[in-house]
Amino acid sequence: MRALLFCLTLTLALGPQVPIRAQRAASRPTLPPLTAHDARINALIQQMTLAEKVAFVHANSAFTNPGVPRLGVPELVMSDGPHGVRPEQGRTWQAPPPAAADSGTYLPVGVALGATWNPALGYAFGTTLGQEAAARGKDVILGPGINIMRSPLNGRNFEYLSEDPYLVSQMVVGYVRGVQDQGVAACVKHYALNNQETNRFKVNVEVSERALREIYLPGFRAAVRQGGVYTVMSAYNLVRGHYASQSDYLLNQVLKKEWGFQGAVISDWAAVHNTLEAARAGLDLEMGTDLDMLPNPNYNRFFFGDSLLALVRRGRVPEAVLDDKVRRLLRVMYATHVPDKSQRPAGSRNTAAHQATARQVAEEAVVLLKNFGDFLPLQKDKLKRVAVIGANATRLNAYGGGSSQVRAKFEITPLQGLRDELGAGVEVIAVPGYRIGRGQRADPVLIAEAVAAAKAADEAVVVVGWTHGYDYAKWADNAYDAENTDKPDLPLPFGQDELITAVLVANLRTVVVLVGGGPADVSAWAPSAPAIVQAWYGGQAGGAALAGVLLGRVNPSGKLPVTFPVHLDDVPAQKLGEYGYGKARPDSATVRYKDDIFVGYRYYDTYKVAPEFAFGHGLSYTTFGYSNLRVVPGPQSVRVSFTLTNTGRRAGAEVAQLYVQAPGGGPVPRAAQELKGFEKVQLAPGQARTVTLVLDRRAFEYYDEAGKKWALVPGSYGLRVGSSSRDLRLTGAVAR
Ligand code: BGC
Repeated sequence: MRALLFCLTLTLALGPQVPIRAQRAASRPTLPPLTAHDARINALIQQMTLAEKVAFVHANSAFTNPGVPRLGVPELVMSDGPHGVRPEQGRTWQAPPPAAADSGTYLPVGVALGATWNPALGYAFGTTLGQEAAARGKDVILGPGINIMRSPLNGRNFEYLSEDPYLVSQMVVGYVRGVQDQGVAACVKHYALNNQETNRFKVNVEVSERALREIYLPGFRAAVRQGGVYTVMSAYNLVRGHYASQSDYLLNQVLKKEWGFQGAVISDWAAVHNTLEAARAGLDLEMGTDLDMLPNPNYNRFFFGDSLLALVRRGRVPEAVLDDKVRRLLRVMYATHVPDKSQRPAGSRNTAAHQATARQVAEEAVVLLKNFGDFLPLQKDKLKRVAVIGANATRLNAYGGGSSQVRAKFEITPLQGLRDELGAGVEVIAVPGYRIGRGQRADPVLIAEAVAAAKAADEAVVVVGWTHGYDYAKWADNAYDAENTDKPDLPLPFGQDELITAVLVANLRTVVVLVGGGPADVSAWAPSAPAIVQAWYGGQAGGAALAGVLLGRVNPSGKLPVTFPVHLDDVPAQKLGEYGYGKARPDSATVRYKDDIFVGYRYYDTYKVAPEFAFGHGLSYTTFGYSNLRVVPGPQSVRVSFTLTNTGRRAGAEVAQLYVQAPGGGPVPRAAQELKGFEKVQLAPGQARTVTLVLDRRAFEYYDEAGKKWALVPGSYGLRVGSSSRDLRLTGAVAR
């Protein structure tokens, strides 16, 4: 099996408590352009033999290319990614040795980073990853993953950032810069349209040019144009009949010509199927084809091996095309100091700063979904006994999910976090409530035990949700948020709805905590739960962050980067479009994105479908007031200012969001509103701040397919400012 190698060894220990540091700025002096070393690189290419060039553009082990040993160019060393450095694989696909020595910081997963809506944290996140990669001798970190969350069924959404291209774009830039400022390359993936895992190696995506440009590409473009990303990973799937790794349109035309990408395109592992097509289309490095040859890989049999050599010799692939691939890879290698690693910042691992970043991201990621009657935070001094119910309260997640696995130095579970936060004075009764595993249904004995615990306690915390699958042998039993798999449905498995309902009946003083990589159908019990908290997979400090929020040490500030639909039937990919899952189309060859631009809230808001929890939603323990909207139009851009005031009694952070509403009557259907600006603002009680968001021309435009360009419909554009896509407090308009 591909890229999914697992081992259960995790070191559990509590990390030192470090104060949360101030956010680091995402801005930095611009790194030298990738082309800075081209003169030297071109001279090197002239010295390389044809065989050396061909060897250079395909793998010589699971995660390296061979370099050019004769000329003293070392191997290029890659590693997953995206929320920690992956355990050592060795050079093969053998299971990694259970060596605690290769442990690293386990950061919260991508969707959690997205939920912070804090681009400066993206930079801190990338910095941590870059420093740990450097310390481990990695030149390229295979992340961030930024595919759009088109359907909540996608098993890999946990690695991705959002359903919204603007939010993705804002978060990806800091991440990429953070990694690359450490002298390590980021690799933005999976380019493009890898929005489902079902049939991921061969599904063909049909999508309109407009949806491609407006929804699926902006994050990649931002990574290239603003982030200056050094490498891009081409996806497994086909796009309009061509494998993404062999797509001239995506690689040569859009990425390299239009966006001016000067770095290297790396194939996803075993994503290449045809030498000539891949060579001509703009793929630069072929990786992972050995996965199709196990247990006896022969690297010469890569498509970019003997086969490419023959095609160049026969003139079918011009040597200049091969030289371009070598040049791009050498650019990445020079930019990351591979030829002379003494030039690279030394890197570091598991430092107090890294641990603080993991914790801060986790804390800012927690989303308070519901808080009826200010149920939360729990008052520690009023508590004698707390029931912590649910198998997810004790489950370790660092090793879950597939290639993004991390060998965490420690991982604080929700139960551990609560015990630490509550201290010795509060009794904690912990019971599993349900059993994780294939076919597991509600277990009356476990539920009775949970009900008894809830009845005996002042408060119950039910920790439920999705699972990640860390045991390769039992992958299918528990992998819902995982590579190469999609969720079969949206209600939670293992009888969790029955458990939650029974506990709520037993003790209404119950908070439900959802662990997982994205939405679930919570309609069975959400109306009767006083408080619901989304905790994601919060990384090594996830349990501590969660407990901090539940007990009020941390004021929640996360916002949903993805809509929670009420039911799967409400999801636009399923309703308007096609999604390669379900009894009707179990292994469909082509998936048509007929939902077009109506992804996520663009659909719910336009088609007036009420979500369970809206995009951008997230409550706080304080309140915020919005006032004084001012709109200052300029010829190129529009400045939107307003006053944001903390009107409550606690310090807290608000993510103020700006949505643009296009005028009717244009040539194409427009979404009811689109996110085009936001800022996360920390405010003391009573404090006010003027927030200014700038809208450039692109914020108003749509992609005109016939004209093959972005176009503006003249008219009056609505401007809406607020706390979520469905909690809009100020409205204005501007003529464009
Ligand atoms: C995944 C990539 C990953 C690669 C290397 C593939 O199966 O799709 O995201 O980087 O394996 O592990």
